[in-house]
Amino acid sequence: AYPFYEYLRQHDPIFLMSQQHNQSSWIVTKYDHVKELLKTQSFLKDQSKLFSTSPHDTPQDEMTTIFQNMMLDVDPPDHTRLRKLVQPYFNPKTIKNLQPRIEDIADQLIMEMNNKKGPIDLINDFAFPLPIIVISELLGVPAEDRNKFRRWSNTILAAADDMETDFVEDVQAFTQYLTRLFEERREEPQDDLISNLLQAEEEGEQLSRTELYSMIVLLIIAGHETTVNLIANTMYALFEHPRQMERLREDFSWTENAIEEGLRYYSPVDFSTARWAEKDMEFHGKHIQRGDLVLASLSSANRDESKFERADEFDITRKEVQHVAFGFGIHFCLGAPLARLEGKIALEKLLNAFPDIRLAEQKPNWRPVFLLRGLDNLYVNIK
Ligand code: HEM
Repeated sequence: AYPFYEYLRQHDPIFLMSQQHNQSSWIVTKYDHVKELLKTQSFLKDQSKLFSTSPHDTPQDEMTTIFQNMMLDVDPPDHTRLRKLVQPYFNPKTIKNLQPRIEDIADQLIMEMNNKKGPIDLINDFAFPLPIIVISELLGVPAEDRNKFRRWSNTILAAADDMETDFVEDVQAFTQYLTRLFEERREEPQDDLISNLLQAEEEGEQLSRTELYSMIVLLIIAGHETTVNLIANTMYALFEHPRQMERLREDFSWTENAIEEGLRYYSPVDFSTARWAEKDMEFHGKHIQRGDLVLASLSSANRDESKFERADEFDITRKEVQHVAFGFGIHFCLGAPLARLEGKIALEKLLNAFPDIRLAEQKPNWRPVFLLRGLDNLYVNIK
């Protein structure tokens, strides 16, 4: 993908990906253009605003309803209201308090890895469980159920990629699961995000029942599918650059920088989510029509030579890595402080615990998912 993006940045930076029934889909590949797209309010998140029939007039499946009510897919003022409700849980200060707990979880996982024989899948045994346990505890969903979330959110992501995917059963199972959990929490509120959102919902005005489901589904999916990739992709980049891995192991003051460089170099989220042109407009020489779909390639922006010197080189000592891996503008990733902290703890714990850690296979496979950049497995030897 990277050589293709480079070609596009040089020759066709606002790329017409497809054209169907008068609607075009575009990919924006240059750093400056990506930032502009993400901050321009005339690219809407809520597609239904563009058509005269309200989405509520036509019957629709449960998944569409869940997606349409996520804060990620709505515009102000709804976006502002929804984001305000959860923002306090994700501020850097609040997140910092989770550090000891995240360290404990990492230690526990490392202990279990130590007890295994033969190659270990760093994804299955570490990069996946760490963020899902953390987000489950923060929300107040039992972490033992994490494999169910994994299946459900994989299905939802697959369906977002390819509408042929059969998602009905899994989405129903997911919402039924949440309904039961909400009942339990209503009866016995706990000190967790779900209990607090339920209270907000009961008090009315702040969020609707549908928005509540959408919020929890969004946080579960966003909270783990991405951070897995941050941890695994950065470790993989370090395996590809053993001298930098050694340098980091000797001096952990580079860790935060290494995480930022990992986010830039192998960006876990390849594309921003959909934006729709509110009106006909010119965008850097291309005529975009009302209703067109426009996507930002974050991966491409993060390798743009006009922004980053030696953009295709991985360098943990790169200064001020102003990547757009977490997006930009009002939808800038809510979970960025959490992801950064999890990434830092993960890297330091792994490098400390396993001085001889090395790849067990030379070329792991990238998952064929359009939106995300992550590996299927990352087999390592630790002894
Ligand atoms: C939004 C990336 C981790 C929750 C976003 C966006 C990106 C992103 C690119 C903006 C999408 C767009 O504008 O179309 C990442 C990456 C992560 C990560 C690379 C890990 C390395 C997390 C975590 C959470 C989270 C741990 C936690 C709960 C969210 C939410 C939004 C969001 C709720 C929507 C914000 C809004 O619409 O205002 N993320 N994310 N993310 N992310 Fe993350």
